[in-house]
Amino acid sequence: MRIPSALVVASVAAAATTANAQRVIPVTFSKPTPRLPALHKRAGTYSQELNNNLTGGGYYAQVTVGTPAQTVDLIVDTGSSDVWILDSDADLCQSRSMQAYYGYCLSTYDPSKSSTYSVVSQDSFSIQYVDGSGAQGDYIKDTLSIGGADIDALQMGLAENSTINSGLLGIGFAANVAASTPYPNIMDLFQEQDLIAAQAYSLYLDDLYAETGTILFGGLDTKKFIGELKTVSIQPDRYGNYSSFTVALSSLTTTADNGTVTNYTRTAVAVILDSGTTLTYLPSSTANRIYDAFDAVDDTSGTGLVYISCDYLDDNKDLTFDFQFGGSDGPIVRVPVDEMVLNNVNGYIELGLDVPSLPFDNVCSFGLQPSSDYYLLGDTFLRSAYVVYDLTNKQIGLAQANLNSTESNVVEITEDSGIPDATGVASQVSVTQTATGLPGTGTGTGTGTSGDGQSTVTVTSTSTSGGESAGARAIPAPKWEALAVAAIAGLCGLMGVGLVVL
Ligand SMILES: *[C@@H]1O[C@H](CO)[C@@H](O)[C@H](O)[C@H]1NC(C)=O
Ligand SMILES: *[C@@H]1O[C@H](CO)[C@@H](O)[C@H](O)[C@H]1NC(C)=O
Ligand SMILES: *[C@@H]1O[C@H](CO)[C@@H](O)[C@H](O)[C@H]1NC(C)=O
Ligand SMILES: *[C@@H]1O[C@H](CO)[C@@H](O)[C@H](O)[C@H]1NC(C)=O
Ligand SMILES: *[C@@H]1O[C@H](CO)[C@@H](O)[C@H](O)[C@H]1NC(C)=O
Ligand SMILES: *[C@@H]1O[C@H](CO)[C@@H](O)[C@H](O)[C@H]1NC(C)=O
Repeated sequence: MRIPSALVVASVAAAATTANAQRVIPVTFSKPTPRLPALHKRAGTYSQELNNNLTGGGYYAQVTVGTPAQTVDLIVDTGSSDVWILDSDADLCQSRSMQAYYGYCLSTYDPSKSSTYSVVSQDSFSIQYVDGSGAQGDYIKDTLSIGGADIDALQMGLAENSTINSGLLGIGFAANVAASTPYPNIMDLFQEQDLIAAQAYSLYLDDLYAETGTILFGGLDTKKFIGELKTVSIQPDRYGNYSSFTVALSSLTTTADNGTVTNYTRTAVAVILDSGTTLTYLPSSTANRIYDAFDAVDDTSGTGLVYISCDYLDDNKDLTFDFQFGGSDGPIVRVPVDEMVLNNVNGYIELGLDVPSLPFDNVCSFGLQPSSDYYLLGDTFLRSAYVVYDLTNKQIGLAQANLNSTESNVVEITEDSGIPDATGVASQVSVTQTATGLPGTGTGTGTGTSGDGQSTVTVTSTSTSGGESAGARAIPAPKWEALAVAAIAGLCGLMGVGLVVL
């Protein structure tokens, strides 16, 4: 562990006091502005701000790579396990036509300007995500600084070819790295270099209208959630290995303004908590029950969207979608209607979307889409949740997020403590995963057979289809009109970016 330099700014000093004598690394996600990284190392937790205003989908952490430090913005992705950055010579960053299609090259790294850069193996880096996007290049090593934590000699992909316009910060299990030769990934090094006590972090995306969220490495912040933080077990893959943040979604209900609860689940489903995905993807059978109840029109095989009347935003302001995990005493996260009913269709129409004829006029899109093979809870869900990812103890802590919270009380997570102050769920429902290695339908102990997930509805790629998912709130309004139609791909939502195709 290195001693922090004298460059301590006021906010850092304040944060360090809060987390005194702990090893927790808070990292805030925010928009890229040139500034010194926070120095929290002695505290043992590292907080990194996350920005959601760079493109339509995704939360970005501004980190630095190399010596001297080069600033890069990386999509924070709990669905994958490799960190990779764009080379300044990458094809995408050199090609106007590629940028017109995939979005502007956000920020790059020039290895020739770093004294701490070394090559691990040439041309061995290759990653492909479920939405068809990907990147290829070399595996390299260099220093990466995030939230004031300096990670030495981190193995990363250096993309020479990419169809994604920024690098990714994959923070999943090392077992899931894309390399044919396994290597210690960023979570391993965080712990090996004694920066944090256990491989754990907490994700707080905050309100849709908030510009920044936070990821806190090594700890959790008790002021950022409401009520009890409850833990559920991470589900192993079919080989018994821990490779993704899969948990059992045991129940999905809605609570109407008048208090009426409607249950849309028949069986537990294995879902991945994936910050690299914009929307939420559930088994078609569950999704269809919800579409019927809400008079929504599924046009995912056409324009790629599910349409719903915007009247729900005005007439059902308190309606929530209630996600429960792990069983009947498991944590519940209530997602407000305006996370699920997205008023973004007019923007798409201006960009050339041809909306089919619909039984309602005031057209919104539904942030819940049907899927036949993998079920993902993306940012539309995650913004309402406070999620603690404990890779060491194979647990996920979940609670309702305390949106717009300005207070902070950071608690360290250790190997022995597990997730502190959290209540375990007594009767845990378990779910199994499908042969793809990605989670499929759950068998849900005692909750019936797996009828879900057999549908043939195709989920099209968000990175290549203009009509795809985008969280309305994630798209900064003033920017919208300035966007060229050609830039849609780079500005729309992400789906499973960072979820590696095995
Ligand atoms: C994004 O938000 C950050 C932090 O609020 C701000 O400094 C930055 O200028 C914004 N960037 C864009 C492109 O709007
Ligand atoms: C990869 O990028 C290089 C330029 O960096 C380009 O010459 C090459 O054609 C690209 N390869 C592929 C397969 O696109
Ligand atoms: C599961 O983990 C074991 C032990 O780490 C490893 O040998 C095996 O290859 C893994 N299986 C798969 C399918 O990844
Ligand atoms: C509550 O509202 C829902 C729809 O908003 C309606 O279907 C239901 O009949 C209402 N129930 C009561 C008891 O008013
Ligand atoms: C919804 O139904 C499922 C399956 O019958 C059940 O396991 C779950 O507990 C129910 N949810 C609620 C909130 O009652
Ligand atoms: C959070 O603050 C934003 C304004 O910054 C506001 O639009 C939003 O409604 C607030 N959310 C909550 C849940 O209070």
